[in-house]
Amino acid sequence: MKFFEESRREVMKHIEKYMLEKMHEFLKPIDQIWQPSDLLPDSTRDTFFTEIKELQESAQGLSYDLVAVLIGDTITEEALPTYESWLAMVDGVDKGEHSGWMTWTRHWTAEENRHGDLLNKYLYLSGRVNMRAMEVSTQYLIADGFDIGTGTDPYRNFIYTSFQEMATNISHRRVASLAKRDGDVLLSKMCGVIAADEARHAKAYKHFISKIFEVDASEAMLAFEDMMRKKIVMPAHFLREVGLKIGQTFGHFTDAAERLKVYTAIDYVDILKTLIDEWQIESMTELNEAGEKARDYIVKLPDRLLRVAERMKNPMLEYKFSWIHG
Ligand SMILES: [Fe+2]
Ligand SMILES: [Fe+2]
Repeated sequence: MKFFEESRREVMKHIEKYMLEKMHEFLKPIDQIWQPSDLLPDSTRDTFFTEIKELQESAQGLSYDLVAVLIGDTITEEALPTYESWLAMVDGVDKGEHSGWMTWTRHWTAEENRHGDLLNKYLYLSGRVNMRAMEVSTQYLIADGFDIGTGTDPYRNFIYTSFQEMATNISHRRVASLAKRDGDVLLSKMCGVIAADEARHAKAYKHFISKIFEVDASEAMLAFEDMMRKKIVMPAHFLREVGLKIGQTFGHFTDAAERLKVYTAIDYVDILKTLIDEWQIESMTELNEAGEKARDYIVKLPDRLLRVAERMKNPMLEYKFSWIHG
């Protein structure tokens, strides 16, 4: 255990300099990046009420499932305290206030913070949402935390974030195009800018892992295998509504996302394929025996998962979320 921690520490220290080099490519400088107010009606202007009226009219065109997915996405984004504290607990990194990895985590958190902020304000103004019910779900999710199987291992954490940032990129991007289809151009723009952030984040975490593969291939491979065996669970898997038990709302949320093709089992396989490809898993040879076994498991996994995904039925409609009026 001691050796394990020490070698992780060494690797993370080594990777830190690559992260610091590219930090301002992966995370945009604060004075240059978009802010929620750039996209929202300005309450100091005379046109405020007309703009809200327009916003509400466009929001009327959104389908029930799309509103449900958008609320689930917003709650997921707003549970950011859970993710920040989880990243701050990771082993093998210097926890000092000004250390590289802590700086990364704070800057990443600052970027992420705008996502829930923007979507929450949009939903509040939209007139479609029971805000209190949604806020209760957000509070529950933050208080309940999550259990995603990474422990405090930095490798597993960054494999998880690589996967997860890609997944959020896909889902925000799809919500953007569905919003456009339903005539809500403003919402489409909002989800578009968020999706672009997620794409940068994904690029960052994938880069960190590829650097880890360069120096500690077998251990990284074992971590990747372990995460894939456990399956990558979404950070909102404990989602619930008032009166329900932990996690009872989550399946209804993912059903709506699956129905709309915002995020599907096929997307899961596609993300896995991308990671295998970008990390050059198949051609990796400098591995110990366990690492080789792990590699072979991972390489075969997409086909297996695809067969399962193709057999899955499109989930049926009808669940009524407490979050949505009418
Ligand atoms: Fe986000
Ligand atoms: Fe992100």
